[in-house]
Amino acid sequence: MTSVQVPLGERSYDIVIETGALDRAGERLAPFAPRGRLVVITDEHVADTQLQRLTASLEKADIAAHTIVLAPGEGTKSWEQLALLTDELLSLGTERGDHIVALGGGVIGDLVGFAAAILKRGCNFIQIPTTLLAQVDSSVGGKTAINSAAGKNLVGAFHQPSLVLIDPTVLDTLPPREMRAGYAEVVKYGLIDDADFFAWLEDHGEAVLAGNRDAQIHAIETSVAAKARIVGEDETERTGRRALLNLGHTFGHALEAETGFSDRLLHGEAVAAGMALAFAYSARRRLCPGEDAARVSDHLRRSGLPVSLSDAGISAGGETLAAHMRHDKKMVGGTLPFLLTRGIGQTFLARDVDLADIAVFLDSA
Ligand code: NAD
Ligand code: GLY
Repeated sequence: MTSVQVPLGERSYDIVIETGALDRAGERLAPFAPRGRLVVITDEHVADTQLQRLTASLEKADIAAHTIVLAPGEGTKSWEQLALLTDELLSLGTERGDHIVALGGGVIGDLVGFAAAILKRGCNFIQIPTTLLAQVDSSVGGKTAINSAAGKNLVGAFHQPSLVLIDPTVLDTLPPREMRAGYAEVVKYGLIDDADFFAWLEDHGEAVLAGNRDAQIHAIETSVAAKARIVGEDETERTGRRALLNLGHTFGHALEAETGFSDRLLHGEAVAAGMALAFAYSARRRLCPGEDAARVSDHLRRSGLPVSLSDAGISAGGETLAAHMRHDKKMVGGTLPFLLTRGIGQTFLARDVDLADIAVFLDSA
C-alpha cells in the first residue's frame, strides 16, 4: 500500500493505492461512515464487474450500503441525472456530514462530486476510481462538473473529496480501448515536467497496458504524485500552474467537438492526438527539437493511440478546427492560452499563439 497526500491545508486528503483495496474498503471507509451507512453511486458496467466487491466489504465492516446505479456514458453528466441523483440523496436523508461514494470512471466521479458540492450547500464524498483515466487524473484535484447544451463540463465546482481509494485490480475488467485512452493521461505527466518518467514509459508502457501490476502501480503512483503536487500549488487554476495539466487538451477539445463528443473519439484518445500535435506545432515553431516530437508520436502510436488528424478520423480543415478552439472555455479576452513545449518534460503556457497560424498548421498536419 502506498499513499500520496494532496496538500490543501484543512482540505488535504490522501490518495491510497493498494492492490485489492476494493475488497478491504470497509475498514478504510468506516471512519467516514460514523452513522454506519454509505450511499454508493456507480454505473451499470461497474455494477456488473466491481460493485459486489465493494458492497461485500462494506457489509463485513457493518456498514449498510445503499446503491444507486446510473446509465454508463457521458450522457449521465447531465442536469436531468443531477436532479434525479440529488433528489434521491435527499430522500435517503443524506446529511452535510455524510460521505457519498463515487465508484466509477470520470463520468461518475464528476457527477457525484458536483452533487456533493451542492447538496445542502456541500456534503462530503469519496472517490473510488475504476478507469485508468479516473485513477490518474479525474478523481484527484476536485474538478467536478456536468455538461450543458452549450458544451462539456461548463457547469461545475471545485470540491475536493475526503479520500481517493485506488485499486489497480479493477482495471482487469476495463475494456482495452478505455485502458489505452487513460494511458494517454499517464504519458501526459511525463511530457509536462518529468522526462525520466516518459523514458520509463517508453520501456514499460506496454507492461502497464498488458496488466503488469507492478508497472501499473508505478505508473499510477507517479501520475497521482505529480497531480497532487500541481493541485497543491494551484488548486483552482489561477496561477497557470494547474493549466499545465491541460497539455494536448486544446487541440484535443477541437477534435472531440468535431466528432460530437461521441464514442468516435474518447477523451484520452483526443488528448493523445492533441499532445502529438502540440509537440509537432512546437517543433514547427522551432521551440522544441524535432526528435522529441518524433519520440512522443512514436510512443503514443506504439501504445495504440491516435497521433494525427487522420488517425483520429478527422477530415475537417484547420479553420473548422480553429473555430472550435474559439469557443474553448479557457479563452481569455479573445486569446487562447496554449500549452506548448521546449522538449519532453518542458511544457509551458504560451499566450501568443495565433489561431490563424494553428489553422494553417492543422491543414498540413
Ligand atoms: P467513463 O466514466 O465513461 O468510463 C469509461 C467506460 O468504462 C464506461 O463505459 C464505464 O462504464 C466503463 N468502466 C469504468 N470502470 C470500469 C471497469 N473497472 N470495468 C469495466 N468497465 C468499466 O469515462 P472516463 O474515461 O473514466 O472519464 C471520462 C470523463 O472524465 C469525462 O466526462 C471527462 O470530462 C472527465 N474528466 C474529468 C477530469 C477532472 O479533473 N474532473 C479530468 C479528466 C476527465
Ligand atoms: N484534468 C485537468 C485538471 O484536473 O486540472
